Amino acid sequence: MHTNKLNIVILAAGKGTRMNSQKPKVLHKLAGKPLLQHVITCAQQLNPEKIVVVYGYGGEAVPEAFGQEEITWVKQAEQLGTGHAVQQAMCHLDQDATTLILLGDVPLVNADSCKQLLQQTQQLTLMTVKKTDPNGYGRISRDSTGKVSAIVEHKDASAQQREINEVNTGIIAVSNAYLAGWLQRLTNNNSQGEYYLTDIVAMAVQDGIAVATEITADELQVAGVNSKQDLAGLERIYQLRQATRLMQAGATLHDPFRIDVRGELEVGCDVEIDIGCIFEGKVTLAEGVKIGAYCVIKDTAIGAGTVVAPYSHMEQVKVASDCRIGPYARLRPGTELGMDTHIGNFVEIKNSQVDVGSKINHLSYVGDSTVGKRVNIGAGTITCNYDGAHKYRTVIGDNAFIGSDTQLVAPVTIGEGATIAAGSTITKDAPDNQLTISRSRQTSIAGWKRPQKNSSKT
Ligand code: UD1
Ligand code: CA
Repeated sequence: MHTNKLNIVILAAGKGTRMNSQKPKVLHKLAGKPLLQHVITCAQQLNPEKIVVVYGYGGEAVPEAFGQEEITWVKQAEQLGTGHAVQQAMCHLDQDATTLILLGDVPLVNADSCKQLLQQTQQLTLMTVKKTDPNGYGRISRDSTGKVSAIVEHKDASAQQREINEVNTGIIAVSNAYLAGWLQRLTNNNSQGEYYLTDIVAMAVQDGIAVATEITADELQVAGVNSKQDLAGLERIYQLRQATRLMQAGATLHDPFRIDVRGELEVGCDVEIDIGCIFEGKVTLAEGVKIGAYCVIKDTAIGAGTVVAPYSHMEQVKVASDCRIGPYARLRPGTELGMDTHIGNFVEIKNSQVDVGSKINHLSYVGDSTVGKRVNIGAGTITCNYDGAHKYRTVIGDNAFIGSDTQLVAPVTIGEGATIAAGSTITKDAPDNQLTISRSRQTSIAGWKRPQKNSSKT
């Protein structure tokens, strides 16, 4: 019987020759995260005593990509087969535990199915799947009574065995008490000269230990990535599953086939998302938020009723409710927008707070600024926050009006209710409730003639 104590071993040492890449296969990304990250996340959901990852090809690049995780990393210097890989992990496993083997290149593996596998009462349980095209997989060979007798690898299988369409997914649960002994008996006497983990099945049968199988109906959940095409295929499937989840949560997607969620996206009801949007990191969209086409939004929270028009980019931004943003707005880290603010086209904002009801509607750069309530910032306004070495803040009081094409040279404070005349370069603080102007008066020169080209020359 499988004990309650759980160890998980993730096999991730392979090169992935068919990826045609310098990068180890398990570091290729699905939905913005390394393949191995997806498997680790599944493993963590099972609350094991221990997660051991066997790595090899690509060397330290693999563990280095996972600095934060609580994982035992075991190096398999030479990839001599899946059995050899598990052997490397063996000394880190608990004698009285059950080990679940997962594969680092099977990213859609699901914790609930693993739990089902672990509920089986046999010492050795295989997750299997029926494939219309079983080519390349280890076949589940059964005796006349239907009991599992062995796993036969494709390259070692007879023509008759190759007819079997139930295959090994590679996901296996096994009691450590038996595993240690079986691994010691492995040989590499087969067509690939490898130590096959799958040979433990025939050993169990020899030892009179019944082998259980848990067949999964979801082929995709156990699909491995061997090529860039496999990766692209699984990416689309993953994204469609995200889209389905979002629609179940109440979002309207203009096309569920044209959305990319590379992280965690949470939506309130009646959120509407147009085509081509990419969501990265942690993004929350409250009730009734509308996102226009082709927006890229990362680590951002958007309040209820806010509308983001097409082609807007946002990263590490907090937006209150009922704002209007874009089209073509670029909101950079540290931007906080109060309720009912309007940010228009070609406006870039960075590390700034814009308070309730303020408007920055056209072609402006606002950086390192505190903007009060009901401020109107005219077209082409620039906060000059950087002198080449240091950054300074601009403070704009409530109800101020900044005329178009103004430069605010920080550090500078614009008073409450102040008006700045269009075209001004403001280098000193502007007082409350006054008009401040800094440009030469307009004059006209009577009798002035525009220079003319000499028409006799060619
Ligand atoms: C393996 C199984 C096969 C199963 C298939 C499912 C064996 C012998 N065969 O075959 O029954 O149908 O998976 O996809 O187990 N790895 C290492 N070290 C090694 C060799 C492999 O860590 O020395 C890792 C790989 O990185 C990969 C996994 O183990 O994540 C499976 O290895 P792979 O070579 O793809 O095995 P298959 O031949 O596909
Ligand atoms: Ca494989």
